[in-house]
Amino acid sequence: MNLPDHPANPVLAIIHSMHSTHGNFSDRPLLPDDLEAILAASIRAPNAGNAQNYAIIVSQDPALMKEVCGFQAPVMLVYCVDTQRNKDLATHLGLAYGTDSAWTLVTGVTDVALAAQNAVIAARGLGIDWLISNGVQRGEVRRFWRLLNLPPVNCFPVLAVFLGYANAIQEHRKGRLANDAVIHRGRYQHRDTAACERILAETDAEGFGASVFADWRAKGHAHYLEAFFKGPGGRAANMYGNLAPALRESGIDIRACEVAVLNQSEL
Ligand SMILES: Cc1cc2nc3c(=O)[nH]c(=O)nc-3n(C[C@H](O)[C@H](O)[C@H](O)COP(=O)(O)O)c2cc1C
Repeated sequence: MNLPDHPANPVLAIIHSMHSTHGNFSDRPLLPDDLEAILAASIRAPNAGNAQNYAIIVSQDPALMKEVCGFQAPVMLVYCVDTQRNKDLATHLGLAYGTDSAWTLVTGVTDVALAAQNAVIAARGLGIDWLISNGVQRGEVRRFWRLLNLPPVNCFPVLAVFLGYANAIQEHRKGRLANDAVIHRGRYQHRDTAACERILAETDAEGFGASVFADWRAKGHAHYLEAFFKGPGGRAANMYGNLAPALRESGIDIRACEVAVLNQSEL
């Protein structure tokens, strides 16, 4: 059984109509009111402890966009985890705002993701195309601090959202695994051979995956996922080697959290 795809409900209809625009935006600008509406929707997202430990950098500078991610669009929003604002405010009050690296990383990234997703849903509702990119986690990551004028510690970029109007009809939106592949009803369902085969059948279906591997059959692969794991899926991890050192430089060191917990339990 597939989940409903084209519901009559207008919010669900927007969600199900969504797809990424992979970099090919036209020069048509966003109306300033539309951009403000998207930003207002973005910050309406729920956030842990009502602390809003994030910053959104709004850029309309094509040169900066190109340097940041290689993409260009009328608008780029860079979503950063940012505890520096609350630390500044605490200092201003003669107080301290204590943060833990693991919490800042996990909860901060969660807040950012929710805010970014609200932005793209709002954009779609206004007929604006979008791309979410994690390009700010790749390559020489520390350069983003200079490019975006980020505080040296307590702030790090997580996602860039590009907004504009696609200059070409986009490929068919990609399929999504559902049911027992990602939706575990009741408790986690561990996969047996039959479950793996069911998932392979879903991912082999026409139009499921990214167009870059559309010719996986012609290339002699038995399955779409075989092409994925041997290709981009296997290489992906190599692109993020500078992320952990950059996070450590920005004050995020999860190993330090483990030491802190040990020390506490020794008391
Ligand atoms: C965290 C995240 C990072 C992504 N980074 C990129 C990216 O750097 N470049 C790109 O073209 N698409 C990127 N995407 C878009 C995905 O490739 C896309 O969402 C996925 O293939 C499904 O396609 P659809 O959104 O059109 O349904 C990213 C999506 C997410 C959620």
